Amino acid sequence: MHYGADYNPDQWPEDIWPDDIARMREAGVTLVNLGIFSWARLQPEEDRFDFAWLDRILDLLHEGGIAVDLATPTASPPPWVSAKYPEILPQDERGATYWPGARQHYAPSSPVYRRLAATVAAALADRYADHPAVVMWHVNNEYGCHVHADYSDAARDAFRRWLTDRYGSIESLNAAWGTDVWSQRYGSFDEIVPPRLAPCSRNPHQLLDFRRFTSDMLLECFLLERDVLRAHGATQPITTNFMGAFKPADYNRWAEHLDVLSDDCYPDPNDPESFRDAAFQRDLMRSLKPGAAWYLMEQSTGAVNWRQANAPKAPGQMAALSAQAVGRGADGILFFQWRQSVSGPERLHSAMLPHAGTDTRSWREVVALGADLAALPPLPPPDERDGHVALVFDWENWWGVEGLDHPHNGIDYYAEMHRWYRALHRRHAQVDIVPPERVDDRYALAVAPLLYLLRPAGAAALERFVAGGGHLLTGPFSDVVDEHDRLCPGGYLTRLGPVVGIRLEDFGALVPVDAVGPGEREALVKAPWGGFRGTVHAEEIEALGASVEARFTTGRRRGHAAVTRNTHGRGVARYLATLPDEAGVQTVVDAALADAAVEPTLPGLPEHVEVARRGSMLTLVNHGGPVAEIALSGRDVLTGEEVSAVRLAAWDWRMLWEDTATTG
Ligand code: GAL
Repeated sequence: MHYGADYNPDQWPEDIWPDDIARMREAGVTLVNLGIFSWARLQPEEDRFDFAWLDRILDLLHEGGIAVDLATPTASPPPWVSAKYPEILPQDERGATYWPGARQHYAPSSPVYRRLAATVAAALADRYADHPAVVMWHVNNEYGCHVHADYSDAARDAFRRWLTDRYGSIESLNAAWGTDVWSQRYGSFDEIVPPRLAPCSRNPHQLLDFRRFTSDMLLECFLLERDVLRAHGATQPITTNFMGAFKPADYNRWAEHLDVLSDDCYPDPNDPESFRDAAFQRDLMRSLKPGAAWYLMEQSTGAVNWRQANAPKAPGQMAALSAQAVGRGADGILFFQWRQSVSGPERLHSAMLPHAGTDTRSWREVVALGADLAALPPLPPPDERDGHVALVFDWENWWGVEGLDHPHNGIDYYAEMHRWYRALHRRHAQVDIVPPERVDDRYALAVAPLLYLLRPAGAAALERFVAGGGHLLTGPFSDVVDEHDRLCPGGYLTRLGPVVGIRLEDFGALVPVDAVGPGEREALVKAPWGGFRGTVHAEEIEALGASVEARFTTGRRRGHAAVTRNTHGRGVARYLATLPDEAGVQTVVDAALADAAVEPTLPGLPEHVEVARRGSMLTLVNHGGPVAEIALSGRDVLTGEEVSAVRLAAWDWRMLWEDTATTG
């Protein structure tokens, strides 16, 4: 179990370094991410490298017994780069340039940027591949975090090449993009530009491909540096830090290229439910590389600096969230950053070693957590069969759902996924977060709201899943388009129709009950297992083989089907013709869990206590609620002692070996 932080020694005079290392040892730090933003120091001019300072700090860290995840500094090109090669600067859709002055001001598809990035990565590997302190490589930092898409001329040229590879001929691109609409037919790939600012609705198929392209360009940058590191002698695992469900980068396509996944996660302490969103992020990491542990590469000890109102963590909350991460598969707990900066935008962002020094609550908590993590025995990797419920989450579908010109143009896919995840989390179901293609018989229930864009293999997997006995919950606005965002011959639900046993005739957008102005208001729905308010959509569906479980009781669709249940093969598929409101999501999830006979990971837990299974280990965390007395006995992972009951006050956590645990 690694413990540590981003370490930026180049922000400090060297005489502080020995103190850093002494304090790191006191805190139990075992690993630091070094040099993430050090390009200007490492390569002050194109033809000059300065490794002397890095040599010294690497040696000091090594002598201090602290391992290094050595970074390539390519997330922030130094001023000489942009002065000499302004063509590396990215542009937004209006052609406005992102100038230097912050970080991440590079166009991922710029050949010049890539050449320079490869050069500095090669130089680092040449010098440090065999350094005994270096145990891992950290490529770049949070690819795409600030510049979500680049529309520059470098992007234009690369987009043309990418489309040529994808479509082969301009005719097949014209077919995929439906360019006969609005006279957009292309004569050659050289006529294509990124979807820059345009007078009105841009071509949706082009927008979707541009999202794929953007993710692929960032991935190419990672692969380039990874391959350069390898070619120059690096044998250590190579990672880059993810940001949970981050829209611009399709991590389902990235994950296989990383030796170890790492993730940055900053739940808002002001949001009492944000621990469930953190759990979502951890489960996503667990699901992206099944059966493998991952690293929590960045979190904060206290407040961040980039929200409107930045709350510190409550006493104990940092450790509770760290335990949550370990319970959901993390083998490293690290922070941004080691020592709080005195200058720069992050001078008020919390850190392991705060401005106020070591006589602080936060330092004491840092030291205590380090000691606990050090006391853990080697933990089992997460098991591929830990999850019993699949939450179907997919980047291409996300991009599709949030495309424009839909019946309802206010859908927030990320927020929607989190609503369903939170409802499952409250019921202590262990959830894998997977694309439709990965739904299989290891799951009892698959929850797939808003499955708008469905690839043929995904549709086939869902059909097989239900036919084989699984329970599927889907709709509304599902199985509407193919992978090009085009309607399929035959209308809607062309693949899942037989599975859900309904026909979808038309959509109807709803507006909130308290909306000003005209519009069909949100409608009430009544089912035997409870009622809810339907929002966003009230679709016109017709039950064919399915039975009607719930009907709209108000509004234009009054008396018509709102929820249907179909048996297909040995399984069951429910379809929602509307999106339940907040409470309704819980009602529907409860009904689906009961129908699919999904048991909670542990029975009888209150909602503020979470439980996670990691192979043979169970982790319980009280996320700040009242004391919970849990009738559970077993062997404590941390102490090795037998416990006969678990008592968790606010922010307490406990890990037990599951094979020794008995409830009641
Ligand atoms: C991350 C970033 C770090 C630091 C941190 C602050 O997005 O990778 O370098 O800026 O945020 O919360």
